[in-house]
Amino acid sequence: MKSFKSTAWLLPQPVLIIGTYDKEGKPNAMNAAWGGQWDMHEIMISLGSHQTTDNLAVNPEFTVTFATADTLVASDYVGIASGRNTPDKMQKAGWTIEKAPNVNAPVFKEFPMTLECRVKQKIDESETGYYLVAEIVNILCDEKYLAEDGKPDVEKMNLITFDPVHHTYIQLGKSVGNAFADGKQLK
Ligand SMILES: Cc1cc2nc3c(=O)[nH]c(=O)nc-3n(C[C@H](O)[C@H](O)[C@H](O)COP(=O)(O)O)c2cc1C
Repeated sequence: MKSFKSTAWLLPQPVLIIGTYDKEGKPNAMNAAWGGQWDMHEIMISLGSHQTTDNLAVNPEFTVTFATADTLVASDYVGIASGRNTPDKMQKAGWTIEKAPNVNAPVFKEFPMTLECRVKQKIDESETGYYLVAEIVNILCDEKYLAEDGKPDVEKMNLITFDPVHHTYIQLGKSVGNAFADGKQLK
């Protein structure tokens, strides 16, 4: 086994797109890989200081959607351009924007599935950012991406993950097994 010094290589990492409105209701989006499920109805995201955090300070509601192969270029773009100094950031991203039904935040219609969220807690807040814990208020899924059982079909979404080792995006593939079930063979 080769050893590497400590770094942010937890695998696999998501490509989360966080949607917020500023105090005038102007939409913004940013890319975040350092996030995950926190509890049954809560998520967490490690946030630096961004237009997104400025927006959350005045309006603590947001959306989180999951980047896909089709939305990759603009998803990366919103992670390298800031709304703080790019007034036409969302025009350049080119997404169709609608207000979310249950929170004061934008939904980007090109994405299959979106969480509507409300800030619950900001942990270790400083001028460089904080760890955000947020309640999932509601989940939206485009009907095109539903499975036969009526639930979201992740296989249909062509989601991408962030590879923090080589800074690439990797597309998710096929289902290869059944969780809480296949392991029973060894019980
Ligand atoms: C692949 C990728 C992952 C990122 N992950 C995070 C993250 O987890 N937390 C964070 O604060 N910024 C992260 N960023 C940086 C922000 O997306 C970036 O600073 C963005 O410009 C902020 O936009 P805003 O100022 O308009 O809110 C990431 C960027 C990329 C490209």
